[in-house]
Formats: sequence, C-alpha cells, structure tokens
Amino acid sequence: MADDFILSTDSLSRRFGGLSAVADVSIDIVRGSVHAILGPNGAGKTTLINLLSGNIRPSAGTIRFKGADITGLPAHRVARLGIGRSYQKTNIFRDFTCFENCFLAAQSRLPSALRFFRPALRYAPEVARAERALALCGLARRRDTVATQMSYGEQRQLELGMMLATEPELLLLDEPLAGMGREESARVVDLLKALARDHTLVMIEHDMDAVFAIAETITVMVDGRVLETGPADAVRASPAVRAAYLGDGG
Ligand SMILES: Nc1ncnc2c1ncn2[C@@H]1O[C@H](COP(=O)(O)OP(=O)(O)OP(=O)(O)O)[C@@H](O)[C@H]1O
Ligand SMILES: [Mg+2]
Repeated sequence: MADDFILSTDSLSRRFGGLSAVADVSIDIVRGSVHAILGPNGAGKTTLINLLSGNIRPSAGTIRFKGADITGLPAHRVARLGIGRSYQKTNIFRDFTCFENCFLAAQSRLPSALRFFRPALRYAPEVARAERALALCGLARRRDTVATQMSYGEQRQLELGMMLATEPELLLLDEPLAGMGREESARVVDLLKALARDHTLVMIEHDMDAVFAIAETITVMVDGRVLETGPADAVRASPAVRAAYLGDGG
C-alpha cells in the first residue's frame, strides 16, 4: 500500500552533460525500514542521495515524501520536512565541541529570520534537542569535547548526532562506516540498529557484513540504473547481482 512508503521516486534521472549519473530510478522506501543502496564506484549512489535530499535537482522524474511531491525543493526545505542526511566525507565544525555542533544543527531547522536576536532562554528547545541528539548518537559523555580531539569514528558519530538534532524521520546515510576500524564500525552498526527502531534509514554502504546485518531491503545500482531491488536475501541470491557486483563469494 502506498501509505507504507515514506518516500518514492518515479523515473528519477540526473544527467551531468552527456553522463546519466542516475537514470530512470523508481524505488519505494518502506516506512520504518532499513534500505541499503549498493553498487560499484560511480554507480550513482551519492547522486541519488543528493537528489533525495534536495542538494541537486533532477533532470527528470519525481520524488514523493509522505505523499507530497518534493521534486526540486531546495535542501533546507527538504530538511525541514524531516529528511536528514550525512555525507560521504565528514562534515562537522572541527573546532567546536560536540554539544556546539549539535546545537548549531538543531538551530538550522528554524527559518533563518528566527535564528538571531532571541533571549537566551528561548534557545531551550534547541538545547534540549542537541542534548537528546548527543545521547542518541552515543556521545553524551563527549558533550564538551572539541571535535578534533576525538577519533575519526567518533567524529562520524557526531555527524549522525548533528543529523539527529534536526529530528528527521528519514535518514539518508552516505557510507556511514567508511574509513572505520573493526571496533568503531561495530559500534556504529549497533547505533544504526538502535536508530532503525524509530527512523527510516536509507544507507549507502560498501561493507557487506554491515549491510546484511542491518538492511531489510537492498537496491543495487550499476551505471545509474537499478539492477535489482527487493528483500535483502532475494537480492543477495540474484544471479545478476552476484555477477555484476558481489562476485562469487557474495
Ligand atoms: N557534480 C558532478 N558533475 C559531473 N559529474 C558528476 C557529478 N557528481 C557525480 N558525477 C558523476 O556521476 C557518476 C556517479 O557518481 P556518484 O558520486 O553518484 O557515484 P557513487 O555511486 O556514489 O560512487 P562512490 O562509490 O565512488 O561514492 C560518476 O561518474 C561521477 O563522476
Ligand atoms: Mg558515493
């Protein structure tokens, strides 16, 4: 039923000059699910996320979020509707503390005209949102630590915290485990599982163990197109996917 889909794309496409980075992608994201996007380098995964988050505009096709057409809306408006995103490369204010990073993110949800000239007390909702986000991303005890003084894994956790401070329903995660060691990666997988209890997650990830541990649905992209989409087990077993992407050991 369409109500079960928090987000759907219909023939979504994006060209860069002569290159079809995303070509005719029609996918449905089930509310409350974890949906992984797989594919080789250059498959169009990040471009797809950029389209969903409003960071770039589609060349053709539509995006619906909770029943409303959000095609072509700018990123700040998409964010305010409840779609949060993280980046493939870490995107934090390095000289600020964890709390300050989350506080700034919490504020970013407000229309810019309201962000200034408010008595300090009026910031209470953003402070509360920032504290909650820190707890959710597992960094409460790092509240007053400056971002540069933390490990790479913790910095990526902080990035999740900043996204959570905007209180999104749908999280778009671009390689949340990239560059992490085994232990860090296991910690973030646990964190993502916890977040999945009350959020919908769309996640680009190359780490197959993590993908199969977390994701219920998998979409495999190759050359901008959807090669296969469906339940994780079915996609894993698909001969086309094994040949194109997973290889024999997949
Ligand atoms: N702004 C841009 N201008 C021109 N070409 C672009 C732009 N962004 C992406 N591309 C091209 O679109 C294609 C898809 O890129 P994209 O970053 O979406 O791939 P990806 O699946 O995320 O790859 P990776 O696994 O390496 O992150 C690539 O050929 C890339 O070079
Ligand atoms: Mg990418």
